[in-house]
Amino acid sequence: MGVALIVLAAGQGSRMNSELPKVLHPLAGAPLLAHGLRAGAALDPARIVVVTGHGAAAVEAATAQLAPEAICVRQTEQLGTGHAVAQTAQALAGFGGDALVLYGDTPFISPETLLAMQAARAAGADMVVLGFEAADPGRYGRLVTDGDALLRIVEAKDATPDELALDLCNSGVMMADAQVLLRLVAGLSNDNASREYYLTDTIAAGRAEGLRARVVVCPEAETLGINTRAELAAAEQAFQARARARALEDGVTLADPATTYFAFDTVIGRDATIGPQVVFGPGVTVESGAEIRAFSHLEGCHVSRGARVGPFARLRPGAELAENTHVGNFVEIKNATLAQGAKVNHLSYIGDAAIGEASNVGAGTITCNYDGVFKHRTEIGARSFIGSNTCLVAPVRVGDEAMTATGTVVTQDIPDGAMAVGRTRQENKPGFARRFMTMLRARKSAKGAH
Ligand code: UD1
Ligand code: MG
Repeated sequence: MGVALIVLAAGQGSRMNSELPKVLHPLAGAPLLAHGLRAGAALDPARIVVVTGHGAAAVEAATAQLAPEAICVRQTEQLGTGHAVAQTAQALAGFGGDALVLYGDTPFISPETLLAMQAARAAGADMVVLGFEAADPGRYGRLVTDGDALLRIVEAKDATPDELALDLCNSGVMMADAQVLLRLVAGLSNDNASREYYLTDTIAAGRAEGLRARVVVCPEAETLGINTRAELAAAEQAFQARARARALEDGVTLADPATTYFAFDTVIGRDATIGPQVVFGPGVTVESGAEIRAFSHLEGCHVSRGARVGPFARLRPGAELAENTHVGNFVEIKNATLAQGAKVNHLSYIGDAAIGEASNVGAGTITCNYDGVFKHRTEIGARSFIGSNTCLVAPVRVGDEAMTATGTVVTQDIPDGAMAVGRTRQENKPGFARRFMTMLRARKSAKGAH
């Protein structure tokens, strides 16, 4: 049993004016397609089928990343939403549960709304359609109801003036027994203004068989579909506005909320403080009481309690900051762990590394992790001190309570408690500077005399 998710993603999206298939355009750090899949995940789908068409290869590759268990089916000609659903017949052959149809370009449907649709099914409706009161019904399909019953859906192009006056509209999201839905789409005709096989016609067809359809209504904001870059930008704004409001409600301090940018999955703990102009890419968790200072960029990382990041820090995927760590200005951390109390405060690159408890990494330290082909690891023990402008040529290990002298190029492991110095020795030439400058100034005034 369970639910099969059908995501329609074959449309051209030509109004995006893009080489990239519409459903792969990012919103809040994830492709549009990911948002629908994420909402659908609330129903714990037993099967996921994505209908691809335009840009099928790219959409299939993205689907394999986002939902490896999903089956992709190709709709080679876009003959309408009903025709798209019909393409899932093989993938859903013998499937005994319900099917939920979602659009790949409609990112804001909430899990609660999908659960409400499921509840309506459980309460006895054979088909459930997600509707909304449209501020401007325009080209949306209209829901023709009689009391609680949904009689049919009429597309704007085919509607009479009376029907066009209805403002209860079709979001496109629909739920019914999978086999019933497949049987109904198989019987559709394209005798309409668009010469398309309309998924929406399954309601009247079902009713003719005695099936009962109901409408579940959600806020219009959830049904927002993306067709243009302007709509995508507006959707991003809407997402950010909601994410900022949610963070503030959750007890996060945002110094300048309008300049904090969240991803779809950002998690920030209570009493964390976020300075102005901070960008969260996907996969970030910031624990309670951590501080992210201005102009920092974080993705795929975890910042623990009491840690301080920025200003102007960059945490890349795999950055793992334990409690009370500091990462300061112009520091980049990638695939590296900082144990409790470790500090990297200025102008450093730490990649593919582990830094031990309470170690201090001086300004301008670089882990030379890449030889042009392979990446190598740097390990630094506990309570060690890395002098400024140290190059750690990986693979290399610095022991516990070890040191490097400023400017050292570390090419060999440093034992516990040792100090490594690897730089040319300084030589002082007494009086040289004064003599040299005097000579240069004399040369300049001699030139000026000509
Ligand atoms: C559809 C609904 C309409 C509803 C509106 C909400 C139908 C007939 N109409 O109209 O009632 O108010 O959505 O936005 O269903 N797709 C395919 N293959 C196709 C055609 C479409 O995969 O052959 C996909 C598109 O990629 C898109 C979705 O289905 O994700 C909706 O298609 P679209 O052409 O936008 O339908 P609308 O005309 O907007
Ligand atoms: Mg549309």
